[in-house]
Amino acid sequence: MLDKQSKIYVAGHNGLVGSAIWNNLKQRGYTNLVGRSHKELDLTDQVAVKQFFDEERPDAVVLAAAFVGASCIGLTSS
Ligand SMILES: NC(=O)c1ccc[n+]([C@@H]2O[C@H](COP(=O)([O-])OP(=O)(O)OC[C@H]3O[C@@H](n4cnc5c(N)ncnc54)[C@H](OP(=O)(O)O)[C@@H]3O)[C@@H](O)[C@H]2O)c1
Repeated sequence: MLDKQSKIYVAGHNGLVGSAIWNNLKQRGYTNLVGRSHKELDLTDQVAVKQFFDEERPDAVVLAAAFVGASCIGLTSS
């Protein structure tokens, strides 16, 4: 069970979904949120990810990081 001090890592916290989850958790009083930009932590880098988890030891992970390539479909047609 998570409490308000639980450490929650939101992967992709700068993205559309991740930032909405991040803001929602903050509004609900979760104060110990951890986020890393793609530049700070590339989730395809297994060694870096293991080091991050060894250091941060989050209580929970929200996975909202992804390579999203179809968001603009429909916006380019006239
Ligand atoms: N948007 C929607 O309406 C919607 C609806 C349902 C489900 N989803 C799902 O939710 C997930 C996220 O979608 P989104 O719309 O929020 O996408 P988004 O705005 O493009 O955000 C994706 C995030 O993932 C990060 N990221 C990508 N590759 C990474 C990597 N290798 N290491 C670390 N971070 C990485 C991106 O960082 P950078 O920007 O720095 O690359 C970005 O912050 C996807 O699986 C999508 O299918 C989205």
